[in-house]
Amino acid sequence: MLILVMINVYIKAAGLSKFGKSKQRLYSLIKDACADMNHPLEEIDAVYIGMMNPEEFIGIGNYASFIADKIGLSGVPSVRIETASSTGAAVLLQAYAAIKSGLYKNVLAVAAEKMTHLPTPQVTKIISEVIDPSERKTGASMPSLAALVTNRFMYEQKIKKEKFQQAMCSVAMKSHKYGALNPYAQFRKEITEEKYFDSKLVSDPLRLYDCSPISDGAAAVILSNEKGDVEIAGVGQGTDKQALSKRDSITSFASTRKAAADAYNLAGFGPSSIDFSEMHDAFTPFEIMGLLETGLVKVKDILKFYEDKEDHNTGRLPVNISGGLKSRGHPVGASGLAQIAESYRIMTEKYEKERMPAKYDTCLTHSIGGLASNNFVILMKRPDIKIKILSKKHIVKKEEKKESKDKRFQVFSYTRLYSPPSGFPTPLDLVILRRKGRLALARAETEQPLKIGQYVNFTQKVDGSIVVEKSSFLDLIKKKKKDDDEISIP
Ligand code: COA
Repeated sequence: MLILVMINVYIKAAGLSKFGKSKQRLYSLIKDACADMNHPLEEIDAVYIGMMNPEEFIGIGNYASFIADKIGLSGVPSVRIETASSTGAAVLLQAYAAIKSGLYKNVLAVAAEKMTHLPTPQVTKIISEVIDPSERKTGASMPSLAALVTNRFMYEQKIKKEKFQQAMCSVAMKSHKYGALNPYAQFRKEITEEKYFDSKLVSDPLRLYDCSPISDGAAAVILSNEKGDVEIAGVGQGTDKQALSKRDSITSFASTRKAAADAYNLAGFGPSSIDFSEMHDAFTPFEIMGLLETGLVKVKDILKFYEDKEDHNTGRLPVNISGGLKSRGHPVGASGLAQIAESYRIMTEKYEKERMPAKYDTCLTHSIGGLASNNFVILMKRPDIKIKILSKKHIVKKEEKKESKDKRFQVFSYTRLYSPPSGFPTPLDLVILRRKGRLALARAETEQPLKIGQYVNFTQKVDGSIVVEKSSFLDLIKKKKKDDDEISIP
């Protein structure tokens, strides 16, 4: 007779190093995070380690056995996992799967990154390597792709730039407000609306305070099949085409929608049962979009959600009361696991009263890898609580790619980047052009900033960049005549 034993996975302990600029070595930050758990490591069966790019940031590879040794677990199986900026969540999911399968009883998950010792253009260049090679060669960086997504999002949602920037400002002010209360956070100062709008443009419309910083830091979590204070209720992961221009939609990430649906279906409860969440606010608009993609907030309510949020932690859905990536800091490989550690601290009442949410039985964490090409959603709950069970499966709605027969080149999105990767001029104009429904990202030369929806002509230069000019009425007539000419998109 076959007896199936259901294995549940619990968090036994969680810890963080201080995030920010650190003189410590990477392994020393990991040791700090492990010590912060205040839990012995003797029973650990395996170590799962996440780092995005220690090879280039600190010139070290083969980190799994090195770290196992440094934390006194030499001899214990150890493996490294990587999915760009969602690495920390990937480590959690793999550790969960190893316990769920019955292979191990106790797994230590650690995730870390060390970045601040390098100058910003070099860090930008290293981070940009997660972008599709064809798009990266234009000089596109993560902030500039996020800006292209944001500009298109405002256009498609018909939200005026001033209105949306107000919401972005609220995200930033909220993150800094809660970061100021978080002893682990990189930035511990509140910001005013004035300070936000006075801050420099990084890639229009993203300002300094819309971007997560460059950070050092580590997180550690012990997962176990023994009952603990917090249970991993559901996990989900989704991928998407790496090139932004090849996707069905750039304004609603399919990778998050799939990850969320899988996590909800596994957990058996849906977005209306979530008490608080930790969202991937590497750029402030990504927190806003993440709330929509996970179904936590409806699009018609999204701007209102950010109005009057004085006491955000006691509201219906507290988001990033840790300070988020924006204010706690974003050591790229660590953040996905740091979100789990923060949520565990909240669910086990380790936060100060002034920033505790009103309800904390359930939580959702959301982590974006690359420019949303490998995303995760993790759901947690306190054991033995009653939750409204999902009455039907959570379905991922497919975004239909908008087909068009228009043979003219139209600006699909545009940004001016003021902080490009090393080797590219400042500022750098980046444009996504659309023709017959196909998109292409190009580095542009343009007299005036481009407007989404406008028709353009361009000439291609030898370095691959394009010189963009407004398309005149006469050009349109000429184009109509040679309607069947195939013009290749750069
Ligand atoms: N938010 C708030 N303040 C920031 C900041 C941020 N993101 N980044 C830097 N600062 C502060 C610094 O602490 C410093 O303050 P100080 O003068 O009081 O010491 C000041 O701003 C200037 O810092 P600096 O390091 O010179 O800024 P920078 O222009 O070199 O870098 C960004 C700013 C936004 C370009 C950089 O942080 C960045 O590239 N962030 C995005 C990283 C990224 O892409 N991560 C992956 C996402 S998935």
